[in-house]
Amino acid sequence: MSSKRDGRTGGYRSAEWFGPHDVHGVRHRNLMKNQGLPDDLFDGRPVIGICNTYSELTPCNAHFRTLADRVKRGVWEAGGFPLEFPVTSLGETLMRPTAMLFRNLAAIDVEESIRANPVDGVVLLVGCDKTTPALVMGAASCDLPTIAVSGGPMLSGHWRGETIGSGTHIWKFDAMVKAGEMTTADFLEAEGSIARSPGHCMTMGTASSMASMVESLGLGLPQNAAIPAVDSRRNVLAHLAGRRIVEMVRQDLRLSKILTREAFENAVRTNGAIGGSTNAVVHLLAIAGRLKVDFTLDDWDRLGQGVPCLLDLMPSGRFLMEDFFYAGGLPVVLRRLGEAGLLNRDCVTANGRSIWQNVETAQCWNDEVIRPFDKPAKPQGGIAVLRGSLAPDGAVIKPSAASPELMQHRGRAVVFEDIEDYRARCDDPDLPLEPGSILVLKNCGPVGYPGMPEVGNMRLPERMLKAGVRDMVRISDARMSGTAFGTVVLHAAPEAAVGGPLALVETGDEIELDVAGRRLDLLVGGEELARRRAAWRPSHPVADRGWVRLYQETVNQADKGADLGFLTGGSGAPIPRESH
Ligand code: FES
Ligand code: MG
Repeated sequence: MSSKRDGRTGGYRSAEWFGPHDVHGVRHRNLMKNQGLPDDLFDGRPVIGICNTYSELTPCNAHFRTLADRVKRGVWEAGGFPLEFPVTSLGETLMRPTAMLFRNLAAIDVEESIRANPVDGVVLLVGCDKTTPALVMGAASCDLPTIAVSGGPMLSGHWRGETIGSGTHIWKFDAMVKAGEMTTADFLEAEGSIARSPGHCMTMGTASSMASMVESLGLGLPQNAAIPAVDSRRNVLAHLAGRRIVEMVRQDLRLSKILTREAFENAVRTNGAIGGSTNAVVHLLAIAGRLKVDFTLDDWDRLGQGVPCLLDLMPSGRFLMEDFFYAGGLPVVLRRLGEAGLLNRDCVTANGRSIWQNVETAQCWNDEVIRPFDKPAKPQGGIAVLRGSLAPDGAVIKPSAASPELMQHRGRAVVFEDIEDYRARCDDPDLPLEPGSILVLKNCGPVGYPGMPEVGNMRLPERMLKAGVRDMVRISDARMSGTAFGTVVLHAAPEAAVGGPLALVETGDEIELDVAGRRLDLLVGGEELARRRAAWRPSHPVADRGWVRLYQETVNQADKGADLGFLTGGSGAPIPRESH
């Protein structure tokens, strides 16, 4: 497919399109000139692709036209030639059955758009949950100089004197309505008070976690994570990123030089220190897979140990991203990790400096929001990876979002075949439910749903809520929203739909969860399990065509990041053959 020529040997890759004084060069240049571009723009200067996930169907990214314009200012100033292009956008709240089903599709779009076009460096405009991993995955498989710019969180929500957070308060209010503690009219009124400005979810959900991952990986500029979307400094950051990407092209500072194993280690510890989303687990595994970085699910557990959660942010804490920014933002967290010996200080970042140089003088302005190491918000920040007879390839739980009294728990399973079954039966008075029951949900993994949706934090049955129960152990092969909370075991692998042990659980079975011992076991004898396995038949929906078929046939399990098997690794950005 690719020619032997690599534009880098004789200038930048874009010069292969725009340089030649022959029919091909004329074809490439002349149609670009219909946009009113002067001749000297084609003189071999770095061409910067601005990969935009703007969409009115992705409200978190709906302000990205402005952001792209600010990036362009910077690119022009630095002597580059900016060209913006759209890629598949992924709106978390609207896309069904789940935006996650399309993360890998968007990553393909990004990868092929970059490689097929005359770009020398890339700026990724990312925001809503899946847009960040999708764009980074695609760009990683091309490995050009790349910088990510996050769109920034929304301002804090306020309602009747209370600070309210996206996602988190929707789940809380819903439970209150179900428990008879809030009226539906009040719920609907609160709705408009949460999302009151442009930007993505402003709790420490998946979008904020991934924006923090971008910053801790060194793929974004300092303060990328927390500047609110509407703060003028967000536009400054985009402007500076535009300037910087031109330099990165000149220095050939490629993505693979930034996204090293050491950088992933920094990101995992950062996710622990911020109390970040469990979704970061699958996304970082998928990104590392594109770069063939040696980084596994067990690294999440090992590296996260001893990392306290420093941030007192929702979903498990009190504050929101706006407060985090005013308190000093992610550089303060990184500095504290560095001072505790938990940061690989020499990792190079997008601005050309080491991560430590970026943060060593960072100041904290509010120790309530960003706690010191000796007074953390939660003693345990990391993600625990559980293994055992119920999840031989692993499952995850976020201890900082769980109830301490349930971290060691033995209970009887109440099993649901899929989320519709759960919704239909969870309030059935005949269900053998007690406060210590364990809710088990099947067929919500990558293949089973398909797309591994955020349904793992099943809302508690009304009967339990009315009895004052506020948390129960829940186990599934699904994910959960980064804005959610509870003693929720997720990403069980292998998933039920491919015949993982989860598929064999029956109501009444005993299950033992031991977070400290990192165990998750189904206490059913081998003979009985063999009998059930012989009788087991898959029951999940199977697509007969299109993207979903390709996805179901090729997707990896959660412990490998749920990328498509054939997409792991990269192909660089060699210049493809001429088109005419
Ligand atoms: Fe887009 Fe939460 S819905 S970040
Ligand atoms: Mg989400």
